[in-house]
Amino acid sequence: MSAGTTSQGFAAGFGESPEVAIDDVPVRGILPDWLEGSLLRNGPGSFQVGERRYRHWFDGLAMLHRFTVSSGRVSYQNRFLETEAYRAARDEGRIAFPEFATDPCRSLFARAMAVFDPQPTDSAKVNIAKVAEKFLALAETPIQVEFDPVTLKTVGVTGWDTSNFGRMTTVHPQLDDARGEAINLVTRFNASSQYVFRHLDTATPGATPTTLARRRVGEPGYIHSFGMSERYLVLAEFPLVVNPVSLLLWLKPYIENFRWKPERGTKFHIFDRQTGAHVKTVTSPAFFAFHHVNAYDDGDDVVVDLVGYDDASVIEAFYLHRLEEPDARIPPGTLRRFRLPLRGGGKTVTGEQISPTPIELPSLDYARMNTRPDHRYVYGVSLGDEPGFYDRLVKIDNVSRTTTTWRAEACYPGEGVFVGRPGREAEDDGVVLSVVLDAAAETSFLLVLDAASFTETARAELPHAVLHGYHGQFYGEVRPT
Ligand code: CO
Repeated sequence: MSAGTTSQGFAAGFGESPEVAIDDVPVRGILPDWLEGSLLRNGPGSFQVGERRYRHWFDGLAMLHRFTVSSGRVSYQNRFLETEAYRAARDEGRIAFPEFATDPCRSLFARAMAVFDPQPTDSAKVNIAKVAEKFLALAETPIQVEFDPVTLKTVGVTGWDTSNFGRMTTVHPQLDDARGEAINLVTRFNASSQYVFRHLDTATPGATPTTLARRRVGEPGYIHSFGMSERYLVLAEFPLVVNPVSLLLWLKPYIENFRWKPERGTKFHIFDRQTGAHVKTVTSPAFFAFHHVNAYDDGDDVVVDLVGYDDASVIEAFYLHRLEEPDARIPPGTLRRFRLPLRGGGKTVTGEQISPTPIELPSLDYARMNTRPDHRYVYGVSLGDEPGFYDRLVKIDNVSRTTTTWRAEACYPGEGVFVGRPGREAEDDGVVLSVVLDAAAETSFLLVLDAASFTETARAELPHAVLHGYHGQFYGEVRPT
């Protein structure tokens, strides 16, 4: 173990990854014969640059991973995203761009100049999306990096907005292939800040994003995702907010400029998805969330499911020095449901907890169930009562409100990605794929769970550890020849 890592079992997931390609990964168990395609994942490939170490789980250099399942075999490749941030790290051993909670070493002069020449990181490490036939590595800065889904080589950059200056976006665009649209939220930080929903016509080749909706905001919140029903867009604005002018001075790492102001409550701004018109803003008691799960229309209400926290302390819990403490505890997020009244004068909403089971990195059968009121199953990583990191996968049934769990000794699974069996009728007829760190062996494996029974059917075992990642997607059409 390198200096700075911990005696905690999951520490191998916060080190460094080699770049490798493996044609035939050993498989234990039986892969479903219908499972064909590639799981593409994004996340940190290294927390170490020269003598410096990144400070937070959400920092690090972007690395893409491809697990291809074909004819009952598994191949694997990973590759650092070839960005300016990566080249500066590789060639000069320096952290050149500000990340979520780590800033470059800069002189005071350079800090002052950064106000006029901000350099958002291009280390797009958080998610993957296929937008208008392009495979994109997604960042919270507006720089989105296009890559080849087979070779994982970087192709170029694109973006959600007209400028990168003082702007942030989410890594969870809402995609509606049937309507041919992709929608994302951009926050424009300046003296008169705005939330802007950007809309891309994905059915028209060469189309560029346009503004669908906007709303002025004095102190913008940290927003990681948003909700979308058939008719509405829902921006949940948590009271983790920033003075935009102080943010643009950039005297501290990005997220450390934000302040928790629970007296503001959490505001749900609701917009008409078709016209972009602001419909209503309602307020609930303060809570925080990274991830929306689903939203749907129900009569005169919009119902929003998300993974909520009582406050934003979960962000602090993800600093590496905090995770390394022997008694480190991650505050548990839980699946919560909010019913937002669109008619009548009521402006206060309350939520209910669907399940007390801790859950994070929530996922669902997005292509089929997003925006639908009959959506039932939510998959995610979870925690026990003891200190440590996410060490199990859960499936929460939001109808029966029961939880099914998968876990194995000293194993730390990442996000579970649902892949439906072609021709399925039952919502959970398919598999859940997860990259799991085996802390005892300091290696990782691709876990294949039967989604209905939530039991293991197979695993493909890599000879090295994959660092704790964030998000990924499965694409049936990505099959190297
Ligand atoms: Co996310």
